[in-house]
Amino acid sequence: MNTQEQLKKAVGEKAASFVQDGMKVGLGSGSTVYWLVHALGERIKEEGIQIEGIPSSIQTGAWAKEFGVPLTNFAETKELDITIDGADEVDPDFQLIKGGGAALFREKIIAQAAEKLLIIVDESKMVNYLGAYALPVEILPFAWERTVHEIKKLGCEPELRMKDGEPLVTDNGNFIADCPFEKIEDPADLDRKLQAIAGVVETGLFINMADTVIIGNSEGVTVKNK
Ligand code: A5P
Repeated sequence: MNTQEQLKKAVGEKAASFVQDGMKVGLGSGSTVYWLVHALGERIKEEGIQIEGIPSSIQTGAWAKEFGVPLTNFAETKELDITIDGADEVDPDFQLIKGGGAALFREKIIAQAAEKLLIIVDESKMVNYLGAYALPVEILPFAWERTVHEIKKLGCEPELRMKDGEPLVTDNGNFIADCPFEKIEDPADLDRKLQAIAGVVETGLFINMADTVIIGNSEGVTVKNK
């Protein structure tokens, strides 16, 4: 296992220790969340804690099944105790860019549903300003060219995310526009402007949502609270 993978495993394990018996847990997406789900499976086996998760992607649901983490859904459960997820960028105010794995829409739903949002990252994701990572925006396939044209007016050259020569289709049947804004001075304002465009389903800007960030670096794992 390389160093970055070890960091992801360490933060995933640390995050799993925040989950208590009886909790309903939002399970994010991505390679760091893989280790969280793995660690939760271990705790269920070794300590017998009883928890239920709601996954933010088909892939995370498959991992939960593989590691023995029971799942529920929003028909059964409207509120979650905690959601734990990765991020692509985290700024000093804990504003986030997410969606590198194209799961931002469901990730935002489980983040909003939770009393507490805990973010797990390695230190490379900590930035002074959001935007070096192209902001993923989920858009409707209908008239996507029009939607991208409007997004462009906000100051970037969006690229439709492709997979195997075709537009990537999200778990919700939508497309992703990756929007390189370079430096986002006011993430909340940009989020409002993007959300106002018809055709935008959801943005990868997670504003005032994260409560705690667990950061892995070569020294170990640091927990930062807002
Ligand atoms: C998925 O859509 C993303 O929001 C992920 O949470 C984010 O890309 C972090 O993924 P990694 O843990 O794989 O870096």
